[in-house]
Amino acid sequence: MHLIGLREMGREEMIGLLDAAEEYLDESGAVHTPPSRRQALAGKTLGLLFMEPSTRTRVSFELAARRLGGDTVLVTADGSSVEKGESAADTCRTLGAMGVDGFVVRHHDRQLPHVLGDRLNKPIINAGNGSGEHPTQGLLDALTLRRHFGLKSDLSGLKIAIMGDIVHSRVARSDAHAFSTLGAEVLLAGPRRLLPSNHNQGNWPASMTNSRKEALRWADAVIVLRIQQERIHGNVIEPHSYAMDWGIDTSVVERYMRPETVVMHPGPVIRGVELSDPVVSSERSLILKQVTNGVALRQAVLVSRFGEESQ
Ligand code: CP
Repeated sequence: MHLIGLREMGREEMIGLLDAAEEYLDESGAVHTPPSRRQALAGKTLGLLFMEPSTRTRVSFELAARRLGGDTVLVTADGSSVEKGESAADTCRTLGAMGVDGFVVRHHDRQLPHVLGDRLNKPIINAGNGSGEHPTQGLLDALTLRRHFGLKSDLSGLKIAIMGDIVHSRVARSDAHAFSTLGAEVLLAGPRRLLPSNHNQGNWPASMTNSRKEALRWADAVIVLRIQQERIHGNVIEPHSYAMDWGIDTSVVERYMRPETVVMHPGPVIRGVELSDPVVSSERSLILKQVTNGVALRQAVLVSRFGEESQ
């Protein structure tokens, strides 16, 4: 019923969701809703509980629900009774009493989706829990790679580097679990202080490097991450020196990357730090394809949790 993380999700379920998402992409790769699905969520109302900032995830869940004939209500921290001290669980209970059928939740607390999943008898979809997981991002990234490389089922044979602020990133966790479950090789690359410690390496289905050059030469695809300044306590990373050591601009591309290697980023991109303007808009960038595929993937997820087949 819930979608909380990809760590526990099996290969068959992942492939099933990727296959289902294909139904919402037309031959040109644009997102669309087939007529047979336009009432799939009729009569259902989804609560969007976004207690951290979001553009892509929030809007794409909203569009996905509406295009399936469903309704949404949005609650953010600003202007809701959360400001007066109401807990997220009580907010969900309150919306549930009004007839809301399930929740998409973004919150800084890593435990919250698990707590809500245990306490509420309604589907919970995790849209980002602090530095925990971001499962729909992991799935849409897998979908984007599968489509770009023309793979039919899983990601076997692909070499995928995830680069940047790994340790504070929920996207890195969900991506690593999705890609490795789907048979890809995963390499985490970043400065030592932004990689998992030796103690935590066992939690990651991936190898690691401190060399940008090694990662870029090795990879078929590079997932570039923003520095999560909001989750870094103490020494803040200096953007200029980070860009020099770990950023990807045209000269880095020319020196280290093969012509067929693609660049992805979950967004938001901080241009000039992790990626330069020309790289963001280059042929090898799949960033806007990720966004498009995100709506399709979220339509598939909503139908799996709220549609007739979920009953
Ligand atoms: N990728 C992602 O989660 O983006 P938003 O923070 O804009 O939702």
